Amino acid sequence: MGLLREGINEMIATTQGNAAPMGFIFRNESASMVLFKGSHTEENIRRDGWVVANVTHDPVVWVRTAFEDLSADAFIDIEAEGRTMQRLAACEAWAAFHATVRHETAETYFVTLEPLGGEVLDPSVHPHNRGFAGIVEATVHATRFMMGRDPALRALIDHHLAIVQKCGGPREREAAALLEGYII
Ligand SMILES: Cc1cc2nc3c(=O)[nH]c(=O)nc-3n(C[C@H](O)[C@H](O)[C@H](O)COP(=O)(O)O)c2cc1C
Repeated sequence: MGLLREGINEMIATTQGNAAPMGFIFRNESASMVLFKGSHTEENIRRDGWVVANVTHDPVVWVRTAFEDLSADAFIDIEAEGRTMQRLAACEAWAAFHATVRHETAETYFVTLEPLGGEVLDPSVHPHNRGFAGIVEATVHATRFMMGRDPALRALIDHHLAIVQKCGGPREREAAALLEGYII
């Protein structure tokens, strides 16, 4: 299905005026998301019925979008299915989806996705970098750590940030410093 491959694709989800890291699930030929209640992303998807999956390898964008809002000029309008949606201005690729809430638990919404179109803007390849991967991992744990300050999660964050220092470049180290600032 276009950009998505089998499993969980970690991407930056854009909704109206908002961006956040989210998992786009692709299994058995169908795409879906599990949205924890309380985020801007789930609120916007339930209201508007669309989401755009963005590919970016900028580690600072991963940390920033997990913890705060981007300015309006970080988004570009795109047309899909006769509607205006928004992608990241600086993404490498994007895919737009019609999103439908199928069921709800006390903590989550399960949403199915139908592809509406997409584009690869920057075809450059990225050798795997453990520093970049470490930022994504540390950021997942950090979003959960903020909910209860569990010391086990803090240990996982520190583990991944140590790998970032060893294997990352300047942009990964900048993202690590930003992340440390959010979780103190
Ligand atoms: C790599 C990664 C994957 C994530 N996947 C999900 C997800 O699938 N569903 C979800 O609800 N939150 C997920 N999160 C957490 C959200 O990004 C986080 O709650 C964020 O603050 C939501 O921002 P928003 O309020 O602007 O939507 C993920 C975080 C990271 C770093």
